[in-house]
Amino acid sequence: MKRTGSKLPSASYKNDLNKLINENQVILISGETGCGKTTQVPQFILDDPIQGPKCRIIVTQPRRISAITVAERIASERCENIGNSVGYYIRLESEKSSNTQLLFVTPGVLLRKLQSDPLLEVSLALSGLVWPYLTLSDLVLPCLV
Ligand SMILES: Nc1ncnc2c1ncn2[C@@H]1O[C@H](COP(=O)(O)OP(=O)(O)O)[C@@H](O)[C@H]1O
Ligand SMILES: [Mg+2]
Repeated sequence: MKRTGSKLPSASYKNDLNKLINENQVILISGETGCGKTTQVPQFILDDPIQGPKCRIIVTQPRRISAITVAERIASERCENIGNSVGYYIRLESEKSSNTQLLFVTPGVLLRKLQSDPLLEVSLALSGLVWPYLTLSDLVLPCLV
């Protein structure tokens, strides 16, 4: 499974992206559909020897089904069960644990988490697909910046 990711166009940007993420508070990643933004970029960070071991990443997905599908896909690429280092948290359903470092959520869940914990105990937040879903992302992004 790991080989799948290493063949994608995003693989050649791994080191540059990790450097950018280390050095900047906010970055915008754009690339063709299917190049690996959603499934590979979070794994670049998890696999980075400096930021990987300590990081806790939260990623928004526009729909509940995409949060589940992407989390399950990444867990299988990493030969792990869902709910260990990779999980999801959507309304009324979650697969996560205290070991979860990469958590996929819907914007609604993230907003509720921000209401109860404005500082949000995560080291990095990635927002999947901002433009077509501008209304909720409009609210989420300024909260994170
Ligand atoms: N659930 C899945 N099942 C099979 N292949 C998948 C799945 N999710 C992603 N892929 C593969 O991984 C590649 C990268 O997907 P993804 O990271 O979602 O791209 P992006 O977010 O840049 O559009 C896709 O081109 C596809 O080949
Ligand atoms: Mg994507």
